[in-house]
Amino acid sequence: MHIRQPKVLHPVDNEDLKLLLLENISSEAVRALQDQGWHVDHFTKSMSEDELVEKIHQYHAIGIRSKTRITERVLKAASRLLTIGCFCIGTNQVDLTTAAKTGIPVFNSPFSNSRSVAELVMSEVIALSRQYFQRAWEMRNGIWNKQSKGCWEVRGKTLGIVGYGHIGSQLSVLAESFGMRVLFHDVINIMPLGQARQVESLQALLEQSDFVTLHIPELPDTFNMISATQLAQMKRGSYLINNARGKVVDIPALVEALKSGRLAGCAIDVFPAEPGSNGSPFDNSLNSWASTLCSLPNVILTPHIGGSTEEAQRMIGDEVSSSLVRYLNFGSTIGAVNFPEVDLRAITAEQRGNVRVCHVHINQPGVLKQVNDVLSPYNVEKQYSDSKGEVAYLMADIADVSPNDINRLKGVISQTKSNILTRLLA
Ligand SMILES: NC(=O)c1ccc[n+]([C@@H]2O[C@H](COP(=O)([O-])OP(=O)(O)OC[C@H]3O[C@@H](n4cnc5c(N)ncnc54)[C@H](O)[C@@H]3O)[C@@H](O)[C@H]2O)c1
Repeated sequence: MHIRQPKVLHPVDNEDLKLLLLENISSEAVRALQDQGWHVDHFTKSMSEDELVEKIHQYHAIGIRSKTRITERVLKAASRLLTIGCFCIGTNQVDLTTAAKTGIPVFNSPFSNSRSVAELVMSEVIALSRQYFQRAWEMRNGIWNKQSKGCWEVRGKTLGIVGYGHIGSQLSVLAESFGMRVLFHDVINIMPLGQARQVESLQALLEQSDFVTLHIPELPDTFNMISATQLAQMKRGSYLINNARGKVVDIPALVEALKSGRLAGCAIDVFPAEPGSNGSPFDNSLNSWASTLCSLPNVILTPHIGGSTEEAQRMIGDEVSSSLVRYLNFGSTIGAVNFPEVDLRAITAEQRGNVRVCHVHINQPGVLKQVNDVLSPYNVEKQYSDSKGEVAYLMADIADVSPNDINRLKGVISQTKSNILTRLLA
């Protein structure tokens, strides 16, 4: 069977692409980008706004983590910048609106640590059930306290998952392999994995579960979603686990439920206010209830490490570097956080004269007509356009373009009055 090979596309401007990677991005990601033949400058530290303003004009792409801030001032100085890769989960450090208006898609890796979180939750289910976290702490304080009272196997117990998305569904599979019964509650109907069962309400889940674990996003709807009323609906002697976001649990109400014995324990990885850096104190100055929570038995507190593993870091490197390659070489914006998501199927190696037009423009009437007038002498093999807010993005593959025509086409489309950025790939 003949398998059609995709053609490797390149920007038609004869300028070698130069990338700046900051904040010690994984060596695999650096290699993947160098393998494209691109010049990659990589540094372990971040750069200040002033340093970036001075240096950014040389680069076509930048890769950062959470410490580097890409402000409007930096973007104004970034005359060649085509794309930004956030090698992390969040993108708050980038002025996303200005980036979009300048034609710069921003990519991140929101789900690369789902498995890491699910595994941590499984470990917490067992640690709480066997109280071994508390026993280990006693041993370190010179206390031998062997006991089985109040310690349980997890086999046959019910795990209630609130939010059956990337993490909740992974966890569902792990919990069943431990012999647990899995219930879940979600705002949308989702096909259960294995023997898991979706229940109709949060209350129904709370009333039936031995362990309740939260995997919902932080939204106005989920603020203090678990408060005194919900804690009172939980089974006496059950456990609560929160690896989602700090504000979804009303912690003073949780403290009361632990003190009264309604809950037998909890594991908390995320807090309404979290210290900004390692070594900073976690005390009442940050959250007024911190010392009380820390003093209660069978409470596992961890410093937001749910997704912090070597594997997750590697996955982030793979995912974001692939997004940068797909955008720079093929124009695809799938996965961009601030941009319309547009992609076209590959041009094949046989289609030698084909050229891909990538046209970012202001989202206003008449643009497609104008561009298609320019493209009308050619056969447009495929075309796709989408918009997000004030920015729209059109991709079109046109056939049999002579090499002499490529620069002329680019020039004409770039001159249209809605043009933000036009690139041609061939
Ligand atoms: N502790 C950590 O280090 C860590 C790491 C990664 C993610 N997280 C957090 O975990 C949470 C879940 O992440 P994910 O990747 O599984 O998200 P996701 O978007 O894949 O899934 C979230 C699910 O919650 C559901 N949902 C939304 N509102 C709901 C509500 N009011 N009631 C019930 N269900 C609701 C959604 O329909 C969706 O199915 C997020 O808050 C994320 O920020 C924490």
